[in-house]
Amino acid sequence: MRGIILHGGHGTRLRPLTHTGPKQLLPIANKPMSQYCVESLKEAKITDIAIIIGGSGSNKVREYYGTGDKFGVRITYIEQDYPRGIAHAIQLCKDFIGDEKFLVFLGDNIIQKSVGGFVEEFEKSDAAASILLCEVENPSRFGIAEVKDGKILRIMEKPKNPPSNLAVTGIYLLTPKIFDIIDRLKPSWRNELEITDALHMMLEENHKITYHMITDYWKDTGTPDDIIHANGAILDKMEPYFHGDKEPGASIIGKVMVGRGTTIKNGASLTGPIIIGENCVVESGVTIGPNTSIGDNSKLFGCDVSNSIVMSDCNIDCKIKIRNSIIAFNSSIINNAKKDEKVFLLGEGTRIIM
Ligand code: DAU
Repeated sequence: MRGIILHGGHGTRLRPLTHTGPKQLLPIANKPMSQYCVESLKEAKITDIAIIIGGSGSNKVREYYGTGDKFGVRITYIEQDYPRGIAHAIQLCKDFIGDEKFLVFLGDNIIQKSVGGFVEEFEKSDAAASILLCEVENPSRFGIAEVKDGKILRIMEKPKNPPSNLAVTGIYLLTPKIFDIIDRLKPSWRNELEITDALHMMLEENHKITYHMITDYWKDTGTPDDIIHANGAILDKMEPYFHGDKEPGASIIGKVMVGRGTTIKNGASLTGPIIIGENCVVESGVTIGPNTSIGDNSKLFGCDVSNSIVMSDCNIDCKIKIRNSIIAFNSSIINNAKKDEKVFLLGEGTRIIM
């Protein structure tokens, strides 16, 4: 089987974080979210992978994944000129897929369960497609499946009055039959070729589509809150390690992952789950956690950070409580000697809540 990862799109809902790169490279537990898809495919023994790129910073995707060698896979890049829909992106992979079965991962979907079992079953099955469904509280935000007696009756995109709360997750097991269907697909109200419309057409044409339920964690990281939530969930499942230096008098409670060259100073306080990358400094008096990631080379003084993501090369030198926040690469929050004056250099679309 072959794999496809969708790494295009505009990432509008995540601006300003996506002004300088694709959302799928934003880190969750200090790792780009699409890397979880690559690792998941590899674990399912799918090592020939096409990555769809397009939009801001596609070159960063090529730079990060390269040939795929570093990740134990072979990567082919396929450019999408404009985000014309998930089905459009899949159609671009027709030659890459040939006559094999394949698995498509939306690069912004995070799951914790291995897909290996689903892949094995699909390889043996005679189904034209198989989808993974997950119960959600806000079904009108997703593709939805209506199911009866173990059979899928209908599949629709973001319905106003959802007939069920079963979201179609962004992990699709497909056969080349889908290409003929996509050829005949019309753009939707949002002017995209929808994978849900293609799947529904498959059903109408009497092709067999099976499904499995995801009962553990699944998240479409469409908003900053979703990313912060996924970050906490992934941290919670990681194996703890400590490769840094801890001065006597630093307090560490719960599950903590700390990288090489990082120093936790006397009087700092860490409460897991948290991850701190390499070559960071956590000064005396700093409180971190729970549910927090700190990227490589970041320096923290005087602050109290929880339920947040601070990416690499950041400098926080300020008596400040940071909650439910995402602070992108190379940012600084520092004390101003004139206490009543704040100085801002903010990118387009920045949000500050004081
Ligand atoms: O996450 C699950 C949901 O994903 C499904 O329930 C929906 O049925 C499906 O349409 C999709 O909905 P979204 O509105 O969340 O899709 P979004 O536009 O965010 O695109 C999903 C991913 O695919 C994202 O990583 C960007 C990438 N993409 C998207 C489009 C439209 C591309 O690479 N190319 C595209 O043309």
